[in-house]
Amino acid sequence: MVNEINASNQECFKFLGFVDDCATGTTIEGYPILGNCDWLKNLSEKPYLVCAIGNPATRFALANDFKKHGFPFAKLISPSVQMSKYISIGEGSIICSNCVLTTNIKIGRHVILNLSCTVGHDAILNDFVSSMPGVMIAGNANIGKGVYLGIGSNIINDVKIGEWTIIGGGSTVVRDIPDHVVAIGTPAKPIKEHYPEI
Ligand SMILES: CC(C)(COP(=O)(O)OP(=O)(O)OC[C@H]1O[C@@H](n2cnc3c(N)ncnc32)[C@H](O)[C@@H]1OP(=O)(O)O)[C@@H](O)C(=O)NCCC(=O)NCCS
Repeated sequence: MVNEINASNQECFKFLGFVDDCATGTTIEGYPILGNCDWLKNLSEKPYLVCAIGNPATRFALANDFKKHGFPFAKLISPSVQMSKYISIGEGSIICSNCVLTTNIKIGRHVILNLSCTVGHDAILNDFVSSMPGVMIAGNANIGKGVYLGIGSNIINDVKIGEWTIIGGGSTVVRDIPDHVVAIGTPAKPIKEHYPEI
């Protein structure tokens, strides 16, 4: 995505590489794996970071840890995204190709909107929300901190989804959903509790 951004007229980034605790090779798609998280923390110069991990709780832990170590965060917005200028987007957030956002939307910090998501007017996506490909969020919905919206789920207008909840892929949320549950189906209903380690 950085190449796409640099090729457009947006802000330019020099992409240094990946930081990964689990990688086995030395490159990913031709870009270097620079080291692991411990290596990064010990750098004296602090480059801008984005944390591209889809699991909200893991992203929350890492982003907070790196913030404590004084790292700044970039915001990555694909040039193919369509959105009005009346949208606020917090640091560390990533908005992938072909997302469409209408107007008066608040996107918190470290939110990920994966490919082809749509977000309606006045919606609020709180910090650390992860929205998987093809999710549709209607107007005035309020998506709680750390919520994971599974692939292709639909959220109708005016509903509120509680913090750290998971909505299953393909589900349709038509009523408010509480904090800390996994909810699935159409209409989406909680099937179990979900308390990630945060
Ligand atoms: C909702 C979800 C998180 C549940 O995962 P889980 O906690 O491991 O639950 P299980 O797989 O044990 O499923 C529990 C039950 O719910 C059903 N179920 C699971 N996900 C479902 C879904 N999205 N819609 C409808 N039913 C679902 C299962 O069939 C199972 O029912 P059964 O007990 O009658 O067999 C997961 O299935 C899901 O939808 N994840 C989204 C993944 C995604 O978006 N990936 C995108 C990556 S880019």
